[in-house]
Amino acid sequence: MERIGKITEISGPVVKAVGLHGAKMYEAVRVGEEELIGEIILVRGNEVTIQVYERTEGLRPGEKVIGTGEMLSATLGPGLIGMIYDGIQRPLPEIAKAVGDFISRGVEATPLPMDKKWKMKKLVKVGDRVEEGDIIAVTQETKTIEHRIMVPPGIRGKIVEVNEEDKLTVKDTIVKIKTPEGKVVEICAVHKWPVRRPRRFKRRLPPTTPLITGQRIIDVFFFIAKGGVAAIPGGFGTGKTVMQHQLAQWADADIIVYIGCGERGNEMTEVLERFPELKDPRTGRPLMERTILIANTSNMPVAAREASIYTGITIAEYYRDMGYDVALMADSTSRWAEALREISSRLEEMPGEEGYPAYLAAKIAEFYERAGVVETLGSKPRVGSISVVGAVSPQGGDFSEPVTQNTLRVVKVFWALDTELAYRRHFPAINWMRSYTLYTEALKKYFEEKVDRNFLEYRKKALSLLAKEAELLEIVRVVGPDALSPREKEILEIARMIREDFLMQSAFHEIDTYCPIKKSVLMLKTILHFHKHAMEAVKKGIGVDKIFSLPVTVKISRMKELPYDVYEKEIALINEEIDKEFSEMGVPTCIGE
Ligand SMILES: Nc1ncnc2c1ncn2[C@@H]1O[C@H](COP(=O)(O)OP(=O)(O)O)[C@@H](O)[C@H]1O
Ligand SMILES: [Mg+2]
Repeated sequence: MERIGKITEISGPVVKAVGLHGAKMYEAVRVGEEELIGEIILVRGNEVTIQVYERTEGLRPGEKVIGTGEMLSATLGPGLIGMIYDGIQRPLPEIAKAVGDFISRGVEATPLPMDKKWKMKKLVKVGDRVEEGDIIAVTQETKTIEHRIMVPPGIRGKIVEVNEEDKLTVKDTIVKIKTPEGKVVEICAVHKWPVRRPRRFKRRLPPTTPLITGQRIIDVFFFIAKGGVAAIPGGFGTGKTVMQHQLAQWADADIIVYIGCGERGNEMTEVLERFPELKDPRTGRPLMERTILIANTSNMPVAAREASIYTGITIAEYYRDMGYDVALMADSTSRWAEALREISSRLEEMPGEEGYPAYLAAKIAEFYERAGVVETLGSKPRVGSISVVGAVSPQGGDFSEPVTQNTLRVVKVFWALDTELAYRRHFPAINWMRSYTLYTEALKKYFEEKVDRNFLEYRKKALSLLAKEAELLEIVRVVGPDALSPREKEILEIARMIREDFLMQSAFHEIDTYCPIKKSVLMLKTILHFHKHAMEAVKKGIGVDKIFSLPVTVKISRMKELPYDVYEKEIALINEEIDKEFSEMGVPTCIGE
């Protein structure tokens, strides 16, 4: 029976209605004669409050509201990858068209291509017992990603029929399962999941592997684990978007979910134009073959922006459940929080700090809690992870505001973008004094075994040199450079070398845009090797100016540009040259390295 209510009041994206019997929180509804998509966000007696995901101009009191009986859900199945959606998973074909055939193919109003036939390999046979999360079939979704079709939530039992046809659409039955209650259910490749509810898993696992990003300051100084959570706050123009793009391009995740949330339309267009051209460095395949974009620009309805991060993380969880490492970027969570604030004020809720609703902190925490490493459901559980990186754009770069503060309470990695560094064109403008990672212990073993036995020591040494630099610069500021000893002057120079030749990394340089972690470590090791010699030279009374104008310093400054196939050999030569040039000045090769 159709449940119909009547609109009583309209306030921007928020609509009130009466008479919708049996209405539930977060139920999806169709609003007005045009049947706009909405969601119930408050039920009070006979009255419901609805947020509407489309423009409400022209809507009038008295028009109908239809209950769907379903929660606002994401549609999950093969065909998600490569799609560009709005906040409630409607494909954005007009944007898609702009980026060529790859995306526009088969795109209808439905979230997934419904007519496309997928070549499915069935992994079960009649008589098998299966439970929620078991893989019943696989299909090659893109050249690099195998889509694993799982027994949907809430279902288990015995396979009683397998569809022998091997080319199936997402709506075709793959198997029939007889449940313990004796009911026979038909399983196809698509199902729905309510976006506001985290998908189930067996248990959480501790993170043990880094998400390698190819960005030196991140991979070596402030690393994030696969399954980890990071925030990247910064004022306007400090490089949040460039960094999020870098991560989406280079991070060694299997699947990328990129949520462009409330940022200017032209920025999003840029992503949409650039992404399809980019190639995965490991596979040489187009990056869109592992990417799902959710675009909600500032000119789209505010409620859809609020929903976008839930849609995004639900899709991320779905691929995690298949056993993949997923990385989700949200740019920016501040725009999402502003959407919350706007809706809250329309609801005339009691405002909290800076007008944000009192539940802002809880909402932020709930979102980041959906990240992590998990053991999935299923009789042969897989391990999957979701890493989340949220950009935060505080007004004027002031980190004391509520969105930044509440985010910092839940994330474990903090990349503090710095207006001053950006102004000096030191990019990435991540402030090394304010940033941190809490994954050092969790990833220690990995780094020492897989990257370099002394990885954490190099890191510590470099960070302490930079801290020392800050102290010395303060002295210079107060009493002038003459107050420094040669040993201290050497520290200033080596710290400059770390900053300029190691930390600075251009996102737009053909080679430097991505730095393999082995190369990052070799680069840092080389600078520290130079430092050791330089300290010896200073002890011998050689001038700091002379040391830092050795010919090899030019080569050190160009290490970042060394191509991937030769850097190892070239950097080894640079190290030999360091030994040679210092020994020519009477400083013998360092011992005990
Ligand atoms: N890693 C980087 N390498 C080179 N340039 C960068 C880098 N990060 C930021 N920039 C420069 O800073 C500008 C602003 O960055 P953007 O990410 O758009 O800032 P935000 O999103 O924080 O407002 C970019 O257009 C670019 O010129
Ligand atoms: Mg930006």
